[in-house]
Amino acid sequence: MRILVTGGAGYIGSVVTAHLVEAGHEVVVLDNLVTGHRDAVAPEATFVEGDIADASVTGPVLADGIEAVMHFAAYSLVGESAEHPEKYYRNNVVGTFGLLEAMREAGTPSLVFSSSAATYGEPEVVPITEDAPTRPTNAYGATKLAMDHMIGFYCAAHGLGAVSLRYFNVAGAFGTRGERHAVETHLIPLVLQVPLGQREAISVFGTDYPTPDGTAIRDYIHVNDLSRAHLLAVAACTPGEHRIYNLGCGDGFSVREVLEVCREVTGEPIPAVEVGRRAGDPARLVASSERIQAELGWLPEFGLPDMVRDAWAFAQYRANDFPDEV
Ligand code: UFG
Repeated sequence: MRILVTGGAGYIGSVVTAHLVEAGHEVVVLDNLVTGHRDAVAPEATFVEGDIADASVTGPVLADGIEAVMHFAAYSLVGESAEHPEKYYRNNVVGTFGLLEAMREAGTPSLVFSSSAATYGEPEVVPITEDAPTRPTNAYGATKLAMDHMIGFYCAAHGLGAVSLRYFNVAGAFGTRGERHAVETHLIPLVLQVPLGQREAISVFGTDYPTPDGTAIRDYIHVNDLSRAHLLAVAACTPGEHRIYNLGCGDGFSVREVLEVCREVTGEPIPAVEVGRRAGDPARLVASSERIQAELGWLPEFGLPDMVRDAWAFAQYRANDFPDEV
């Protein structure tokens, strides 16, 4: 297929682009490089620097034989979204509206969208199914939900075939492609900065959660497993249908358990400092991925030690080969 990947210079988009190219697809990456990295884009892909909201860019790209769009381009910092919701609504919601309009104009039939577990908010029941109430607790999650709703209405009214994948906690790396955020907030890359000598200790946010060891529990999924789901999803797009699938492994790991795996993988002690809760963090987020397993035959292949091993190899590669960028 000829596929447009928006945000293909970012962490997840660059991994999926590499997998699409490996699988023989023709890929065009559209990225404004605000948070992405040009050198993360697979050399076999065509690269277009531009914004999803700019119809003068998306129009000609889509008209050039694009059969499906994978839409990753978005802002994704929960804390920042609380301070600047306008930034999130403009880039995520208005940007996606522009992209959907350009797709409608060009007659692009299929869309795979990066949605988020943040659309659910604090769950009443765990594991979280796709039928759970959607009550996002931050602007980031609210924009992802607004985009999901918009896509659903475009499917019903205009015959678009779409799949929204609601990611839980994505981790790991695919070779030289991994997390390279200017502002890093995610647990595993932050923990790995300690054995690299870039951070003295990791802060554990909250030890009084109603969980067995008092720290918050998340469902971690390897970026390679996540990527594979995108290739299955694009093949499953059906005109007029909007499918929503959760993507996690169905296992919860506490912050302390993640730390322990990081210590085992790196062989380093990794000191931790216990501090107060981070605002807005739910106690326990674990996915039920039964729907995608049943309907698309997706199954995770990698566990938490694999994610940490690959993230660690990637972090060492970046620190050794690009020491000035640390
Ligand atoms: N944590 C720490 N110390 C840190 C960083 C994180 O203890 O230095 C804890 C957090 O409090 C949380 C857990 O580690 O309990 C995981 O935190 P992350 O920031 O790695 O991930 P989140 O669960 O907060 O966020 C992820 C995605 C978001 C998405 C959210 C809900 O990164 O985009 O899941 O789906 F919104």
